[in-house]
Order: sequence, then C-alpha cells, then structure tokens
Amino acid sequence: MKYFLDSSDVNEVEYAFQNFGIDGVTTNPRQLKVIGKKESEVMKELADWTSGHGFTDSGQFPVSIEVDPNLNQWEAIYQEAKRIAGQSPCFIVKIPCTEQGLIAARKLEKEGIRTNVTLVFSRSQAIAVARLGAKFVSPFVGWKENYGEDTFDYLNDIVQIYKNYDYKTEIIVAAVRSGKVIADAAKMGADIVTCSLDIMKNSVYHPFTDYGIRFFTDSWNEVKQL
Ligand code: E4P
Repeated sequence: MKYFLDSSDVNEVEYAFQNFGIDGVTTNPRQLKVIGKKESEVMKELADWTSGHGFTDSGQFPVSIEVDPNLNQWEAIYQEAKRIAGQSPCFIVKIPCTEQGLIAARKLEKEGIRTNVTLVFSRSQAIAVARLGAKFVSPFVGWKENYGEDTFDYLNDIVQIYKNYDYKTEIIVAAVRSGKVIADAAKMGADIVTCSLDIMKNSVYHPFTDYGIRFFTDSWNEVKQL
C-alpha cells in the first residue's frame, strides 16, 4: 500500500519523503489556512520540489491540488483544473464529488488531465467516480467517524466493488486519524492512505517499544559492568 502525505508544507514533504518514503502528496484548502500561504505559492513550491527531485510526471510522484471550492459549475471547475494541471506534470487535480464536479472530471480525464475526486462519503459516489475513469478517488474516513459512523464496511465495500468490476481508479483512504485505519486500509486492499505527518509518526510509535528499550537498556548497562 502506498503512503501519501496530506500536507501543503514543502518542508514536511521533504521530511516525509526522506524518512517515510512517501509516494505522493495530497493538499487541501484547510492546510493553506494553517500555513498561511496562497495556493499559487504552494503550487510553485511543490512544482519546484518535484522537478528538483527529478519527477517528470504524475505517475512517478502525484501531487493533488484542489480546485477553488467557490467554483460550482463544471465549466469553471474545468477551466481551473486545466490551469492547475498546466503548472506541473506531477499535478493531479482534486475535484469535489458533486454532479458538476463529476462532469468536469469526466471531460478532463478524456483529455488526459488526471483527477482525484474528493469529499467522497458514500459507496454510490465512489462508483460514479470509478465509472468516469478518474485516476484517484478519496473516500473520507475521519469526518464520518467524528459523527459516530463506523467506516470499516463503507471502505471495505468500495474496495470490493472496485475489484468486482476491475475499476482502474485508485482508492486513496483520506482523513485518516490513526494507525488502526492505516492497517484496516491495508487489510482491505486499498491502494493508498493519505495522512498528516503526525499520524504517520504516531503509526510507527508504540509505548511498549519505549518500555522495551528502557528494559533492555537496564540489562545492557548491568552486563556492561561485569
Ligand atoms: C485528503 O485528500 C484530504 O486532504 C484530507 O484527508 C482531508 O481531511 P482532513 O484535513 O480532515 O484530514
């Protein structure tokens, strides 16, 4: 299973690339607010970062950039997507899963502009995304779980449905909040998880490992004095 970093911070991208071997990046408007940068600035940084690392297309290192969420008609989404895709060969355009968004994504995919259909919360939305041939679909987990929903079956069903019909769209499990969701996604056979650097770090942490290090350090130091 591939790991994408969910971040608009190029320093985090570099860290996660060097230390976690990430396979791609997803960005969203909330992250721009957190780091206080305009999308144009972040796009330039990420375009420079990908070319600086020798990535020449989105097959090597996909970076999803979200369209302006104010746009709600397919023509405007389509134009904005073309503008984003023109900034870097690594850019994938992130489009919300509305009827208008799906119309735009279908046209873009026909023209070879790869899309990541996001804000997916149901199985039927995921089917529609696969049928139009999007490169990626992003079913959200954390947002649903915040409202008390259990998401295991929802995700597992999407993976199963895609297998049933041999859909080529890759599933990015999104809004991941724990190592458990990462492991669940892998067990189901999802293609990718995207998560923040904090979640990535937490997923390799276990307090027993720390306990074990202390325990073994004590033994080691005792033996050293013999
Ligand atoms: C995924 O592509 C999204 O950017 C992301 O997972 C959104 O959710 P979050 O910011 O609540 O994690």
